Amino acid sequence: MLGSFLFLVFLAGAAVTGTPQSSIDQCPGYKVSNVKKGSGSLTADLTLAGTPCNSYGADLKNLKLLVEYQTDQRLHVLIYDADEQVYQVPEVALARVESSEVASNKSALSFDYEEEPFSFTISRDDEVLFNTSASSLVFQSEYLRLRTWLPEDPYLYGLGEHSDPMRLPTDNYTRTMWNRDAYTTPNRTNLYGTHPVYYDHRGEAGTHGVFFLNSNGMDIKINRTTTGKQYLEYNVLGGVLDFYFFTGTDPKEASIEYSKVVGLPAMQSYWTFGFHQCRYGYRDVYELAEVVYNYSQASIPLETMWTDIDYMDRRRVFTLDPERFPLEKMRELVTYLHNHDQHYIVMVDPAVSVSDNEAYQAGVEQGIFLHNQNGSLYEGAVWPGVTVFVDWFNSDTQDYWNGEFDRFFNADTGVDIDGLWIDMNEASNFCPYPCTDPAAFAISDDLPPAAPAVRPSSPRPLPGFPADFQPTSKRSVKRAQGEKGAKIGLPHRNLLSPPYTIQNAAGALSMSTIQTDIIHSGEGYAEYDTHNLYGTMMSAASRVAMQSRRPDVRPLIITRSTYAGAGSHVGHWLGDNVSDWPHYRISIAQILSFASMFQIPMVGADVCGFASNTTEELCSRWAALGAFYTFYRNHNELGDISQEFYVWPTVAESARKAIDIRYRLIDYIYTSLHRQSQTGEPFLQPMFYLYPKDQNTFANDLQFFYGDAILVSPVTEENSTSVNAYFPDDIFYDWYTGAAMRGHGANITLSNIDITHIPLHIRGGNIIPARSSSAMTTTDLRENGFELIIAPGLDETASGSLYLDDGDSLEPSHTTEIEFTYSGGVLHIQGNFGQGSPAKVEKITLLGQSGKSGKNMSIAKTLDLSGPTEVNLK
Ligand code: GLC
Repeated sequence: MLGSFLFLVFLAGAAVTGTPQSSIDQCPGYKVSNVKKGSGSLTADLTLAGTPCNSYGADLKNLKLLVEYQTDQRLHVLIYDADEQVYQVPEVALARVESSEVASNKSALSFDYEEEPFSFTISRDDEVLFNTSASSLVFQSEYLRLRTWLPEDPYLYGLGEHSDPMRLPTDNYTRTMWNRDAYTTPNRTNLYGTHPVYYDHRGEAGTHGVFFLNSNGMDIKINRTTTGKQYLEYNVLGGVLDFYFFTGTDPKEASIEYSKVVGLPAMQSYWTFGFHQCRYGYRDVYELAEVVYNYSQASIPLETMWTDIDYMDRRRVFTLDPERFPLEKMRELVTYLHNHDQHYIVMVDPAVSVSDNEAYQAGVEQGIFLHNQNGSLYEGAVWPGVTVFVDWFNSDTQDYWNGEFDRFFNADTGVDIDGLWIDMNEASNFCPYPCTDPAAFAISDDLPPAAPAVRPSSPRPLPGFPADFQPTSKRSVKRAQGEKGAKIGLPHRNLLSPPYTIQNAAGALSMSTIQTDIIHSGEGYAEYDTHNLYGTMMSAASRVAMQSRRPDVRPLIITRSTYAGAGSHVGHWLGDNVSDWPHYRISIAQILSFASMFQIPMVGADVCGFASNTTEELCSRWAALGAFYTFYRNHNELGDISQEFYVWPTVAESARKAIDIRYRLIDYIYTSLHRQSQTGEPFLQPMFYLYPKDQNTFANDLQFFYGDAILVSPVTEENSTSVNAYFPDDIFYDWYTGAAMRGHGANITLSNIDITHIPLHIRGGNIIPARSSSAMTTTDLRENGFELIIAPGLDETASGSLYLDDGDSLEPSHTTEIEFTYSGGVLHIQGNFGQGSPAKVEKITLLGQSGKSGKNMSIAKTLDLSGPTEVNLK
């Protein structure tokens, strides 16, 4: 009965489109009944409190509320439809965290509600953090709205992926979440990934985060009412209202709490922190070999060589260009790299060419590509021309993907890659919507109208189009949209043009991507609901496939598109940036957000810039800045001037110097990343993470902390040799000279910064286990001894740690975890010392004593890190 009533309401709703915003404000909201309170939970019914307003779809009459006090720092609030038809993010895309249900009176957060119209607040002590009384709740078939009040002039962060300042603007600002192939990464637009989590930092009062677990397209608006009251508003195309509120005494703790919801990030192998070289447009395997040779001639350490789609036969995934990248020569190249302790990575895209090739045939046989609702294969156009797209929700896809990897990347017969680069997985489709004739598009040389000049070269014309091979298709969908309890989506929705329009920079929802009315195999999810998960589903499947090739080692996978939680599978690069100063600068804010706030610590931007020609000065500065990303790769676009570091003497010099420092610090990076993979404690951090009470740091996104110990203050302006850097009230030491510098909570101009130099300061209170010298490969580096650099804090103490293992195993059998502490002039070394040959300390350096003498003491001292010990440095 209720079902048929709802059905009529949907039909009515479908007719009411484009209603002006004013009617939204007349929506009746909901009233609460049937409240049941447990010690750590609450459930209730929510019923529409008046005449439906049906503004952007039909109002749902009956909702349910679930509140869970999951831990003493985390509260879960879920508002969903009583029939559980509405789509919810599937567990395969993001596994839900268990609630350990704590008593509500033990929680740092509390939930309160108003009965009619229903609204709720989340508070920490007496401070209200979230208050939805800012507007009535709207829950419609294709639109959700929830607005919360914010404090005046709030410090908000997160809501990625974007290229806006790290501290989010608070006036007239819209963050659209709809993953998009965003060439040149324009600011104030939706980019490649979706991370609907924001952090609200309130200084002394602490930091909290709000994660909205929803994968539908949405606009999150931060603005003020006409009377000047600050708010944040979710405008969402579907799904349920699923919120995780978490709190910490400071931003670091809040980030740790977030990792408990979306999962801890994957640990990476030691070698992955070496320097990577890539470009789009290497002509053949000989050019790859030349680049490897040139790096070695220039004495610039090259750990990993990469190849873009150039290696493919007419850009078809899982094929090799037989003339330019023949298998035999490719295998020789990989063997050469491996023999020299170097590594090799190539790109794989999710779109498979329909021209006659094994990957296509196998995929068709296994039925793992996306299908139109009439059962035919869904086709678009990407690099190779007409393509089909892998359906990551199909239960046979993992076998298919493993099979392609085992065949093409086979160590004995194929290209034995060490890591993987996955791209175009928003998913990107060059054929503009409505893509009625992808074959005609593929040979037409047209560009997507919504993205003018988006591509410097369109898919190149291919012989043999349109494809003459018309396969039969297999497809199995378990459920129809609308099945009660299935949580796969309401029926009768407009999956192509919903009544509410999000501000997708590409235009229509289906523009330049997979058509949103496609229904996935398996459970029957609509692309409309799951679009933002495509890249993360591909990431998870690729991780499994890489592990099936090499079961014992940690797979390095770098993806372009991400959703919340992707960090537990993969790392990320920031996509197609531009070789200009604004992109150089904004990369810092972007990297900090990914690493600390979204828990994807393995992250980097294309060093020297991707689109357009770089300059010697920019590339020189970027070579140094990139050495302080976690993922350090030079990448460049087809047709642009070469930008390998050896091309200019100054860039080569800058790279050699920066790599030397980075390599000496790799164990410090490794230790910190290991900690983040175990606890969620972020490695790369904005300044306010370490000085959360110093308001001067809250919006600083041009300096950052590389781990707890190193402050990076790059030159950020063209034609400049100085930087106006902020130093909090603390003691710092110049990395290069060891000279102490007392910060007073003010800016200090650092000048005469040569084009090959990047200012670095060690923050007092830390002990850094650095390698005493660098090396040409990370394998050689591991043979070198350590220098312990002790930088006493204002209280004359310091601490640090060192994690060691074999560098590669998924589950290393022997690990060493050492804690260093310095106090009263004595260095204490304690911890768990694994078996195997112990690491050696060759030198201990004690930096100038809190600015008194400013002198450093270096002691050449050989010490085996094989057991607890003490060293008197008095
Ligand atoms: C996409 C990637 C870019 C790559 C190009 C060709 O634009 O973002 O990194 O070089 O495709 O594969």
